[in-house]
Amino acid sequence: MTTLEQHTQWDREHCWHPFTQMAEYEPLVIERAEGVWLYDTSGKRYLDGISSMWCNLVGHHHPQIDAAIHLQLDKLAHATTLGLANVPAIELARRLAELAPGDLSHVFFSSDGSSAIEAALKIAFQYWRQCESPRPEKKRFVALGEAYHGDTLGSASVGGIDRFNAIFQPLLFDVLRLRCPAVGPRADAKFYLAELESLLQKQHEEIAALIIEPCIQAAAGMVFHPPGYLRGVRELTARYDVLMIADEIVTGCGRLGPLFACEIENVIPDLLCLGKSLTGGYLPLSATIATPRIYQAFLGDTASGRAFRHGHTYAGNPLGAAAALATLNVLTSDEVQQRLPKQILNLAGMLAHLETQPHVAATRQLGMIAAVELTPSADKNERYPQAERIGHKVCRAALHKGLWLRPLGDTLVIMPPLSISDEELDFVGQVLAESIAEITNRR
Ligand SMILES: Cc1ncc(COP(=O)(O)O)c(C=O)c1O
Repeated sequence: MTTLEQHTQWDREHCWHPFTQMAEYEPLVIERAEGVWLYDTSGKRYLDGISSMWCNLVGHHHPQIDAAIHLQLDKLAHATTLGLANVPAIELARRLAELAPGDLSHVFFSSDGSSAIEAALKIAFQYWRQCESPRPEKKRFVALGEAYHGDTLGSASVGGIDRFNAIFQPLLFDVLRLRCPAVGPRADAKFYLAELESLLQKQHEEIAALIIEPCIQAAAGMVFHPPGYLRGVRELTARYDVLMIADEIVTGCGRLGPLFACEIENVIPDLLCLGKSLTGGYLPLSATIATPRIYQAFLGDTASGRAFRHGHTYAGNPLGAAAALATLNVLTSDEVQQRLPKQILNLAGMLAHLETQPHVAATRQLGMIAAVELTPSADKNERYPQAERIGHKVCRAALHKGLWLRPLGDTLVIMPPLSISDEELDFVGQVLAESIAEITNRR
């Protein structure tokens, strides 16, 4: 048996992959990567069209990020942040405080997106028990329909996608659920904000916080909120004294153009969560950033019991923090920032071309995040029956042509690393067009 065959067999036998039906799983073992390309153990390459599940920000094997990790590794791989500090985590916290909107300036580190959300929910809950005028009755959360905030029990409780959560329902806490502001009778912000206002009028006294994925609900199918919605949510939550948690685990760190989606509507949340791209997609590190108002409520002497009762072993890991600092340097460099507007335009051009295809119903884009909807009908109103898994089939066809994508149902997601070249983006467009035609015509 070759090494390749051996790894494939061991993968099947021993690795239990997330969100994967292992009985149908076909291993594709990646050995190395360079820029936007992933290479499997046989040497075949695939363009990473979804940035390795939306986290690789500026390309694989990036010289600056690699060097920062190597340099840090020569000094310190890990020391706990429970009672100790380390240099990269301090510098990263300071950098995030500088970059984050408004007065968001106190950074609580965790290891992944779900944990950053879990921390935000618990900070909000604990805040109301010990702020200047405690309101312990404020302990409920408002979340949006079709929201996705992670898979731990707290983050899943605020999630609203049945296909992920339904089975765990008996384990989850109850939340106040708003309609997803992109589905329903009207597509304007006012309609959905009126629904929020009516909820807050009635129940604000029992609500600790509202949690939202600003501008784009990613796992819902890259669903875009109507303009003005985010701003309106901030105004209403502030008016009714409800904290606002912005989950920027997908939208944060510059993929939309601005560093944070909240900046698009000039919003300063009370808690901001970052993960995924924070380390350039290299290492697991996430952050929950709080305003001084929140942070102050946790100060006191030890006996007061006001310290935040939460923490993870690898919080503020120095290697992750070094990778994050290097990533932020690359992201904010002139080279990346000056290219970004043109790349966004190129992506728009690619989508416009795809829309001329008979089986593309619609496309949408914000910054370097794009989605393509497929349709079986000439008038473009119909959708394929879910059981046909047409999105999955198109992605399998693309894989054979050297493009790695993972769909959300029948929504094709295009989210390449920002380092993608014009020619590589053309390749994505060409493979997508061919794969869509191949699968939809064969049907
Ligand atoms: C908006 C959002 N929040 C939170 C998470 C959870 O992040 P993680 O998978 O790192 O736990 C995700 C993951 O896709 C996400 O899309």
